[in-house]
Formats: sequence, C-alpha cells, structure tokens
Amino acid sequence: MKKYTFAVVGALGNVGTEMRNILETSDLPIGNLILMDLAQNAAKKVSWRSNEYTVIEAKAESFTGVDIAIMSAGAGASLELSPEAVKRGCVVIDNSTAFRMAPEHPLVILEVNADALENHRGIIANPNCSTIQMLVVLKPIHDKYCIKRVIVNTYQAVSGSGQAAVEELRSQIRAFANGEEMLASVYPHQIAFNVLPQIDVFLENGYSNEEMKMILETAKILDPKIKMTATTVRVPVMTGHSESLNIETEKPFEVEEIKTLMEESPGIVLQDDPGKNVYPLAINAAGKDAVFVGRIRRDFSAENTLNMWCASDNLRKGAALNTIQIAQEIVKRNLVRVQ
Ligand SMILES: NC(=O)c1ccc[n+]([C@@H]2O[C@H](COP(=O)([O-])OP(=O)(O)OC[C@H]3O[C@@H](n4cnc5c(N)ncnc54)[C@H](OP(=O)(O)O)[C@@H]3O)[C@@H](O)[C@H]2O)c1
Repeated sequence: MKKYTFAVVGALGNVGTEMRNILETSDLPIGNLILMDLAQNAAKKVSWRSNEYTVIEAKAESFTGVDIAIMSAGAGASLELSPEAVKRGCVVIDNSTAFRMAPEHPLVILEVNADALENHRGIIANPNCSTIQMLVVLKPIHDKYCIKRVIVNTYQAVSGSGQAAVEELRSQIRAFANGEEMLASVYPHQIAFNVLPQIDVFLENGYSNEEMKMILETAKILDPKIKMTATTVRVPVMTGHSESLNIETEKPFEVEEIKTLMEESPGIVLQDDPGKNVYPLAINAAGKDAVFVGRIRRDFSAENTLNMWCASDNLRKGAALNTIQIAQEIVKRNLVRVQ
C-alpha cells in the first residue's frame, strides 16, 4: 500500500496533541510524519511511536513533499499556510474557522456527508466541535423523521478554548483552594465555579459567533431547511462538551424507535437508563471516540418533539478524531490529490 507523508500543524496545541495521540495507533499509511508549530516552538522534541521528532516551523516551504496536512493552529495560520500547502500538492484538512463556510470547500463529518469529499480542491474543513456531536445525532433522526426545528443549548468545556483556558481554570481552582484572588484573562469572567453564557464574540443579531456557527454549519452540512436556534455556554469542565437538544420532526415517532435508531447509528453510544442514573456525562465521554446520547423523552409541550442529551470529547470527535477520520476516508477513496 502507498505510504503518505503527513504533517500535523499546531502540533503542540490541545488539538494537535490529541491528533498525535490518535495517529500513534491509527492504521493510516504514514510513511513520514512532520510536526509543525510556531517558530518559537521549533526544535522542541516530541516522542511519537517510540521515536523522537523535532518540531519545525510552520511556513510555506515546510509543506514541500507533504501529502496530507492536518492543521490546528488557528484561523490566521490556516488562511496563510493552507493555500501555500495546496500549491505544493498537499491536501489540507483544517480545524479552524478559516474555510468552513466557503462554498468551494467541503465541511465534513463522515457519519453525515462523507460524499462531499469527492469534489475537494485541496482544502477540507472540519466543523465546529459543538456542531459535530450534534449532527452525528441529528442525521439519522432527520433521515427517518425529517427534522423541522432544533433548539440546542450547549455546556462546553474549557479545552475548547485552547491550552491557555485549561491553565486558567486550573489556576483559578488552585487560587480558590489557597484563598487567593482568582484572575481571569482568557475569559471575560471567572470560569471556576461559574457558568458563562458567552462563547466567542457577540454579533449584531445578539447571538454569539459560536451559536451562529452551529446554525450556519448545520445548514451547509445537513439541511438548510432545518430551523435552528442555539445558546452556547462555557462551563468549568476540562474536556467533554454536553448538549441539550429539543428536536421537532415532520413525521411522528415512538421514543423507543428513537432509542433503537440511536443504538444502530454510526458513531453513537446510547446511555439511557435514568432510573439507574445512567446518562451521558462529560467526564465519561472524555478520552472516548463516540457521541453518547441519553435522557431521550417525548416533549409533552409540543407535537412530534423530543428532548435528549448528548456528550462527546470536544478534542477527539469534536476536533482531532474527526479530522483523522477525514484523512482515512480520502486515503480510502483515493482522493489524496489537489485539483
Ligand atoms: N479545542 C477544540 O475543542 C477545538 C475544536 C475544533 C476546532 N478547534 C480549532 O483548532 C485550533 C487549535 O485549537 P487548540 O485548542 O489546539 O489551541 P491551542 O491549544 O492554543 O494550540 C494551538 C497550537 O498552534 C500553535 N500555533 C499558533 N499559531 C501558529 C502558527 N501561525 N503556525 C503554527 N503553529 C501555530 C500554538 O503555539 P503557541 O501555543 O506557542 O501559541 C499551539 O501550539 C483553533 O483554530 C480552534 O478553533 C478547536
């Protein structure tokens, strides 16, 4: 089997670290792995599959000879480096917001729209972490019952804001334990022992950018006819996003049918035994690949409407794993080429 040269860009970050971890045990045909990050991090040593790798600076020339680059270094880096990588014949799978809404670049979750990969032109975008876990759940319900409207509320972990946010929560917890002042710099308010109804910046319509990402990405990936509203919230959880979903369908359903559908659908694990306190928990989802669903019940206040709860690891299925699944699919479909 042909082997490929892979690059991880932003290799030392939260998502980049998870990418390296997943790649270690993946069956991708990796002939060579190149780790790239900011110039200031170049020359750092990283161990991967028992070998020592030296991180190099992410710049245009670094992509010469790279077949597939998985990028997780922020939108600025992606906008600058991805076209340069593509010029050099490299397929880029990008975790940032840079190309998600560009009509010419596919935005892909394998469980939802894998065929969108067929026409890629060198750049494939990875959706927002909250969108990914929601759409893995909505896709089978939409296929069978035709979703009319979704109300989603998220409870998002701090690792979704990068390593600095994880450190901020840790240092606030330490400060609290020592009776010291809890300082905030990543978030506008203290995140420890708090809940912040703000993720990303606010837009003119009153929604946050994160809320609009979920809405617009759903239209691009699943179906623009689905009506959706979202409230995205940051909670003091290290890793694992949770979501409450209220879903109205065109066709009637039985709750048991939805549970069976969830059990049979790819990428989903049903955890639904409330009598025994069994339901998805962020801390149990962390480190796992699936989207966990539970608390499935009929919404008695509206026709053909159900409530459910889901949790997933925002760094894995929400970011690194989804990116690597895309890489596996383009290798499998022989799409490692730039048109
Ligand atoms: N975490 C999530 O749940 C999640 C989910 C989906 C998408 N994403 C996206 O993934 C990207 C990275 O997120 P993260 O959580 O891994 O952030 P992070 O922990 O801050 O890591 C980013 C890494 O990229 C490096 N970097 C920054 N600018 C760079 C450049 N121009 N060239 C090369 N490397 C550069 C950073 O170096 P320094 O630390 O030295 O600055 C750091 O090592 C963001 O675009 C984020 O929106 C994150």
